[in-house]
Amino acid sequence: MENFTRSYLVRSASNIALIKYWGKHSEQLPCNPSLSLTLTNCYTESSFTVAKDSRGALEFTLEGKQKEGFDSKALKLHQRIARDYPQLLDFSFNVDSRNTFPHGAGIASSASALSCLAQGFLEAIGVREQGLIGHYARLGSGSACRSVLDGLSLWGTTKLIEGSSDDYAVPVKDIDPTFLGLRDSILVVSSEEKEVSSSAGHALMETHPYAKRRFEVARENLEKLLISLKNGDWNSFIEVVEREALELHALMMTGIPSYTLMRPGSLDFIVKFRKWRLESEARAAFTLDAGPNIHVIHSPEDTHLVQAFIQDWMKSSGYAERVIEDVAGRGTRTLEGKGRA
Ligand code: DP6
Repeated sequence: MENFTRSYLVRSASNIALIKYWGKHSEQLPCNPSLSLTLTNCYTESSFTVAKDSRGALEFTLEGKQKEGFDSKALKLHQRIARDYPQLLDFSFNVDSRNTFPHGAGIASSASALSCLAQGFLEAIGVREQGLIGHYARLGSGSACRSVLDGLSLWGTTKLIEGSSDDYAVPVKDIDPTFLGLRDSILVVSSEEKEVSSSAGHALMETHPYAKRRFEVARENLEKLLISLKNGDWNSFIEVVEREALELHALMMTGIPSYTLMRPGSLDFIVKFRKWRLESEARAAFTLDAGPNIHVIHSPEDTHLVQAFIQDWMKSSGYAERVIEDVAGRGTRTLEGKGRA
């Protein structure tokens, strides 16, 4: 076996779901299709140093430091890929990752981190097919498979999109230009540790009294959203995106056990934002993940309006700690190092 070392960098942005994935079964398969926006500025970058040797060693660091707990999903993913591609074990990996966004900012780091790792591991064995990268990213963390793709992507089988799959995400192509270059202003209302992990949240749906109806409603909402995207209809886009976020939180509140993940600042924002939007007619919708922080998804043409409102609200309410600006962006990519080091 010829010994050599290669280095490359993989970058993958986080994504924010407009139709939520909440509930899974079997091996990380979603109970309903979800649709999200891949971002730009909030990303994970993993630097891979790969040596061809039969030790199959694996070392992870986060910004150069060993971090307890960070690597359990990563280790599982490595083992899972090695099950299908035993040649992965002919390599030793040294992976150092960093996130551009702060921990606890309501930005999913598992989506960006696990898509980065899936692509990085597969790169070592020459697997570059997007569907396969999505497949393994999904096994790492469900929402990660959507980050593999640019802009708006859909994960989950639906008759509405040809080629859609529970296995990996596919691009959403039929989009009116008004929805291109969407922006996301992320308001950090609280950076406290998440009260409930995604895994616990998904598990809640296994026995949730409203689960069956929720999975149907998610499909109905998806259909409405796809029509809005196609027709350039902001009013119905706003209605569906906000309803999805509130449904996710309603499910959490009515679950057994019950979780209240919004904070007073989240609700204060929602109430004032809706009132302001009626007056300003801004093309902007709020959404939330499984936490208190607010994402304001808006048209690039209304950024100035949205930013002015957010600044005013932050000053007058004192609730938000900070705001992170982001925009629709590119999926997972390997940035350098095709050759040997
Ligand atoms: C609320 O993808 O983090 O962000 O598959 O268990 O890793 P696992 O869950 P994860 O769940 C994301 C849930 C969500 C909604 C979404 O992104 O669709």
